[in-house]
Amino acid sequence: MSQLSILPVRLAEREYDIGIGDHLLTNGVAVEHLLSLRQSEPIVFVTHPALLLRYVTPLVTSLEKEGVRCHTLVYPPGEHRKTLAGMMKIYSGFAQAGVDRKGLVVVVGGGVLGDMVGFAAATFMRGVRFVQIPTTLLAQVDASVGGKTAVDLPEGKNLVGAFYQPSAVLIDPQTLNSLPLRELRSGLAEVIKYGIIWDKSFFERLRFLRKSLLSRDTEALGEIIRVCCEIKAEVVKQDETEQNVRAILNFGHTVGHAIEAATHYKVYKHGEAIAIGMVSEALIGEKLGITPMTVTAEIEAALSEFGLPTRFPKSLPQTEFFDAMMQDKKTVFGEFKFVLAEEVGRVLYGQTVSREVIERSLFD
Ligand SMILES: NC(=O)c1ccc[n+]([C@@H]2O[C@H](COP(=O)([O-])OP(=O)(O)OC[C@H]3O[C@@H](n4cnc5c(N)ncnc54)[C@H](O)[C@@H]3O)[C@@H](O)[C@H]2O)c1
Repeated sequence: MSQLSILPVRLAEREYDIGIGDHLLTNGVAVEHLLSLRQSEPIVFVTHPALLLRYVTPLVTSLEKEGVRCHTLVYPPGEHRKTLAGMMKIYSGFAQAGVDRKGLVVVVGGGVLGDMVGFAAATFMRGVRFVQIPTTLLAQVDASVGGKTAVDLPEGKNLVGAFYQPSAVLIDPQTLNSLPLRELRSGLAEVIKYGIIWDKSFFERLRFLRKSLLSRDTEALGEIIRVCCEIKAEVVKQDETEQNVRAILNFGHTVGHAIEAATHYKVYKHGEAIAIGMVSEALIGEKLGITPMTVTAEIEAALSEFGLPTRFPKSLPQTEFFDAMMQDKKTVFGEFKFVLAEEVGRVLYGQTVSREVIERSLFD
């Protein structure tokens, strides 16, 4: 069983902790943390119906034993519900629960709910504090850390949102025991991304740990979650609002987001689209003489070993794909911007790529 690790995220104007530890949701660590942050009541939890009894009720029971009033909102899961219409329900829930400017909101769920509730916290009464309790691997290694919050529009992903940092992130790797395997694999795509953009030895370590990770060995999962959070915290510290180096976290996302939008968020899990995006962007890098073929092969092999899709869906209508690319936040002045891999562990960001090169790499 892994020990509790506290990883401080030090940004220019604020600092918060990421706590990572087995059973922290049930051994009093999370409760203590929430008590230390409470300045008003009720503490409002937002979660999905399937997570309520298992993860939220024990926390609420413990807090109520301490005399703290809590309120719980439930919101159905699904990327297609990460919408402004959904935000209205969350805002109304906050208002009806009596959240005030000193209020504390706690989101227990994956990246979809984390992004939505983070955005709701950023904007409700011009900002209330919130705590992330991510329960998917993807949210534990990526979405809950770094302060990006958003909802989707029909035109594109995460188009309305804010940079808004949580007051704390509390990660219990034990929650991954109830996560469907497909969701676990989806999170592993973002984990592999960290190896590609930052650290070749981590990439190799992941391949070595494959069996343990897929069989949910919480020691191995705890190890990789810590490394990913350290990398993300370091990148975000250097560039909180993505003016430069933070863009490297978008490797695979220029194509991945367009695939998700062009398939109406219904075909692929986020990490699956990113897995395809990473191989697609390696192929684009090959065409430009930046990514050696051996590197594309290495990336594809690692993703396939974890059971992730890697092939671009050539049946996707080109117009819909490029329309989605045009709407993406990473497209500037109509130019498509990419992160391209020079080798595993080293990438270049801000690379402009023409439509013609993308077409030849993906649709030929
Ligand atoms: N803010 C960021 O920096 C950032 C980074 C990466 C991804 N994202 C966003 O994250 C979202 C994807 O997040 P996700 O992959 O976590 O998907 P998700 O939030 O849709 O969760 C996947 C499914 O798993 C269920 N679930 C969650 N925890 C569970 C558990 N412990 N046991 C059983 N079921 C559980 C959820 O109810 C849901 O049905 C996308 O919208 C993406 O844009 C944001």
